[in-house]
Amino acid sequence: MRILAIESSCDESAAAVYDGEQGLLSHALFSQIELHRLYGGVVPELASRDHIQRLLPLIDEALESAKTSASAIEGIAYTAGPGLIGALLCGSALARSLATAWRVPSLGIHHLEGHLLAPQLEPEPAPYPHVALLVSGGHTLLIEVKGLGRYRILGETRDDAAGEAFDKSAKLLGLPYPGGPQLAGLAQHGRLRRYSFPRPMLDRPGLEFSFSGLKTAVRQAAAAVEALPAEHRPQHRADIALELQEAVVETLVRKSLRALEATDLQTLVVSGGVSANLSLRAQMAKAAQQRGVRVYYPRQEFCTDNAAMIAVAGHARLSAGERDVSAMGARARWSLESLGVPTAT
Ligand SMILES: Nc1ncnc2c1ncn2[C@@H]1O[C@H](COP(=O)(O)OP(=O)(O)OP(=O)(O)O)[C@@H](O)[C@H]1O
Ligand SMILES: [Mg+2]
Repeated sequence: MRILAIESSCDESAAAVYDGEQGLLSHALFSQIELHRLYGGVVPELASRDHIQRLLPLIDEALESAKTSASAIEGIAYTAGPGLIGALLCGSALARSLATAWRVPSLGIHHLEGHLLAPQLEPEPAPYPHVALLVSGGHTLLIEVKGLGRYRILGETRDDAAGEAFDKSAKLLGLPYPGGPQLAGLAQHGRLRRYSFPRPMLDRPGLEFSFSGLKTAVRQAAAAVEALPAEHRPQHRADIALELQEAVVETLVRKSLRALEATDLQTLVVSGGVSANLSLRAQMAKAAQQRGVRVYYPRQEFCTDNAAMIAVAGHARLSAGERDVSAMGARARWSLESLGVPTAT
C-alpha cells in the first residue's frame, strides 16, 4: 500500500510518501522557526495560517520527488493530535478533503506514536518489546512498548518537558528561539562543574520527572552572571549551559536504566526532538554498554517533527484496515495509552 502522510501539529509543516514494499519514498518539510523567532515561541494563530499556505506545495513536492501521481496514493494519514488545535485542523481538513476527492481512506495518527516509530525508518528497526524514552518539546515519557499500539506509560514529567527545560533555559541565557540546539552548541564551550544544579527526582524511587526547578536554578545563575565583568560573562553562560545539559541528560539516562530494570528489558528507543542531543546519545551509549542494553534512535532529521514518522504509523494502521470513524479529525489532547493495535474499522 502506498500512502501520503501530513504533519502539522505545531510549527513544522510536512508531507511524506511511504510505500509498504519500498519504504519511505520522499519527505518534504518546512519549519516555521523564522516566523516565530520574533516572539520567542510559537504563536498558534500564525502557525495555523502558515500551515494553510505551506501544506499543498509540500504535498506536491513529496509526490513529485517520490515520482508518484495522486492516482497511485491508496490512503492518507495525518497527525490528528495532540498538538495546537488550529494547526492540527489545517492538516486534518486538508487530508480528509483530499481523501474524499481521491476516493481513498484517511486516518488520524497520534503524533507521539509517530515519534515512537521514527527509529523504525532506519535499516535495523528496534525489536519489540522495548522501553521508549520520548523526549520532545512538549513531552517527557518513559513507555513500555509491547508492540505497535500497545503502550504502557511508566513515568512522565510532572511539569516541564525535557525540551522545554532546554528551551526556557536557553531563553534565560539570551539565546534565540528555538533554544534547545543553541544551548547544546553553547554547552560545548562550557567548563564542567562550575555550577551545581539539582538532579530532580533522582534521589526518589519511581520513574517520574520534574524539570521546572532547573529553570529556577538557571534563572538565578544567569542573573548572577550579569554582575560579573563583561569579559567573563560569555564563558559563564557556557558553563551554565553545560551544567543544565548535564543535569537533564543524567536524569534521563538514570531513569531510562531504571525503567529497563523495572521491566526486565534490554532494548531502549530514544525519540523526540531532544534525542538529537549528542551529549544525551554519548552518555546513554556509555551507560547502555555497561548494562548490555541496545539503544535505537531516529536519524537526526527525524528526531524533531516530520511527516515520515507519521507515514510509518499511518501505513501500519491503514494497511491493517483501520479508517477514520469520527467526524472530528483533530484533538488537542489524546492519551497514548488509549490507542490499540492496528485493526480494521
Ligand atoms: N540538540 C538538541 N539538544 C537539546 N534539545 C533539542 C535538540 N534539538 C532539538 N531539541 C529540542 O527538541 C524540541 C523539539 O522537538 P519536537 O519537534 O519533537 O517537539 P514538539 O513537536 O515541539 O513537541 P511534542 O512532540 O511533544 O508535541 C525542542 O524543545 C528543542 O529545543
Ligand atoms: Mg513532536
